[in-house]
Amino acid sequence: MANLIKSAKGMNDLLPEDMVYWHTLETTVRHLFTRYGFNEIRTPIVEATELFSRAVGEVTDIVEKEMYTFNDRDNEKASLSLRPEGTAGCVRAGLEHGLLYNQQQRFWYSGPMFRHERQQKGRYRQFTQMGAEAFGMVGPDIDADIIAMTARLWQELGLSDNRLELNSLGTPQSRQAYRALLVDYFSAYTDQLDEDSKRRLHTNPLRILDTKNPAMKALVAGAPSLHEHLDTESAEHFAQLQALLTAMGIEFVINPRLVRGLDYYSRTVFEWITPDADLGSQSTICAGGRYDGLVEQLGGAPTAGFGFAMGVERLVHILKNRALVPAAKPMDIYFMVDPTQVVAGMAFAEQLRSALPTLTMIMNGGGGSLKAQLKRADKSGATFGLTFDNPQQLTLKSLRERSEPVVLTPEAALTQLSSHLTQKA
Ligand code: HAM
Repeated sequence: MANLIKSAKGMNDLLPEDMVYWHTLETTVRHLFTRYGFNEIRTPIVEATELFSRAVGEVTDIVEKEMYTFNDRDNEKASLSLRPEGTAGCVRAGLEHGLLYNQQQRFWYSGPMFRHERQQKGRYRQFTQMGAEAFGMVGPDIDADIIAMTARLWQELGLSDNRLELNSLGTPQSRQAYRALLVDYFSAYTDQLDEDSKRRLHTNPLRILDTKNPAMKALVAGAPSLHEHLDTESAEHFAQLQALLTAMGIEFVINPRLVRGLDYYSRTVFEWITPDADLGSQSTICAGGRYDGLVEQLGGAPTAGFGFAMGVERLVHILKNRALVPAAKPMDIYFMVDPTQVVAGMAFAEQLRSALPTLTMIMNGGGGSLKAQLKRADKSGATFGLTFDNPQQLTLKSLRERSEPVVLTPEAALTQLSSHLTQKA
């Protein structure tokens, strides 16, 4: 036998048993986004590499180490990448189609993203994000509105124990001044910096604050605080946002070390953290913030932006762990046919489907004796077995309860099933 081919590392199949969680989550999110006035947008999975290097940042881990990048087949100079996130594509599409400048643009999106990361629980190379972006509003009202939307989502999903962490990164100008202070501070301790931090010292020193290395915690704790170096307007924006969230009854903690792994942020950044221990260091289930310079950076007129994305696999994992989704509904019918009556039987099955649009029914496939078909019916998990004996007669049998089968005319079968469906609804 030939070798079996497995899925690529970090890229997972979603099996039928998981779909009830995916569908519940996707449907809840879609309704909620619509309720808050967001419109769906779908952008390509492949974009010009330059879009991500310009938007996410040349010296971020994502662009430096994690993108799936290749040249197009017919043009060696056209470097393309699988999208590592959704914001850049959203801005690109908004600019390309002239959608961004009327202060009405609220988009949401959903789909696969790709990052060549070290694989671990909750961290994959292909993962799914659902996210939302709003353009043209300088906030902090829109910051609060969007954060409130995410808080409501946790309520609707039964995940109200998620923790909201907030920070403000200030304007690019105030961050530049703070960056110089950080470089001075860390340069005095280069012997205590790990390899990653040494590299970041001159490329992206704020990311040192975000280190997961316990050996560096004390050094980071002593670093100058970003909050003490915020410009007045950003400090005011941050204070107003906090007041709005408090008035809306949304609890938060301020985390001055929250800097995020993408360079486009200014002012507000936030993350929602799950208390579920088994996601370990991958406990951020939703993250985002304000990116007022991004549209301009990608060639548009200055336009404010605020948005977030959530990791759907992580959320599904939590819903599943906590059994927070009702069990999938069983099929109504497993349909069996006397082997001598297949033509008439299949025609009748289609008539049933036309007459009862909410009926769920599996047609026996692969032939077999009635005994063999009944065995499959028992295994199928359906509520009833319906056997087409001949054009005048069907037999209906409960596959769940020990009751006598009932012999019915086709008309009586239709009536009986119709009343079953009414009860089910
Ligand atoms: P991000 O923090 O890189 O932000 O990703 C958002 C969320 O996607 C994370 O909090 C996490 O739940 C999930 N996620 C990220 N990487 C992985 C992975 N390798 N495996 C599984 N889940 C993952 C962004 O992508 C920004 N575009 C968010 C944003 C939108 N900011 C403003 N607007």
